[in-house]
Amino acid sequence: MIPIITIDGPASSGKGTIARKIAEKLGFHYLESGAIYRALGLWVLKNAAGNELSNDELVGLIDEMNLSFKNGNVYLNEQDVTNELRNEQVGMLASKYSAIPEVRQKLLQFQRDFAKLPGLITDGRDMGSVVFPNANLKVFLTASAEKRAQRRFEQLQGTDKSVKIYDVLQDILKRDEADSKRETAPLTYDASFKLLDNSNLSIEETIGQVLDWFKK
Ligand code: DC
Repeated sequence: MIPIITIDGPASSGKGTIARKIAEKLGFHYLESGAIYRALGLWVLKNAAGNELSNDELVGLIDEMNLSFKNGNVYLNEQDVTNELRNEQVGMLASKYSAIPEVRQKLLQFQRDFAKLPGLITDGRDMGSVVFPNANLKVFLTASAEKRAQRRFEQLQGTDKSVKIYDVLQDILKRDEADSKRETAPLTYDASFKLLDNSNLSIEETIGQVLDWFKK
């Protein structure tokens, strides 16, 4: 059996950082599922910006996408798009298109194919609830909206000094609402998940807790 750890949680809860570091420690494969939805947002921006697409047209666009992950970078049709994917506009489009059931269905098997030995750690919104419901460990990682906005603000300031913390917080609140209220695969957890609020935990402490649960 292939060991699988899922880490779901809201935007900027630190899922990606934690999952990536645990993948390194355990030598596991890593799947950042949000990057898939972001890549779709970027692909639409590049190929059909300004068009209102039907769900069939969106699914058709997915067929044209050639998405791959190499050494921590994301490639879309052979082009390195790692940095472009972090853009807020791309994140908003990802949130919009990820609410469409046909889009999620289309991407399901693509995600499941990442489960390979020696193991997989993956992060997103529905990795434990829909994509890998039988994972060995399912974590719901969260932090207060203010803490998450502060972390995202510090990240963004690296590239854009004009960014305002108020705007970052509003974006986070909007995305929380969209991701948790949608009908298909909303951001949620149940008793089969371990809940971890890392508002007052360091990255190392958060990793330590996840590894403790995994080893038990
Ligand atoms: O984790 P992220 O911010 O990169 O995700 C971008 C968007 O993609 C997010 O608003 C919701 C969507 N998403 C999703 O619906 N399901 C996932 N498993 C991962 C992301």
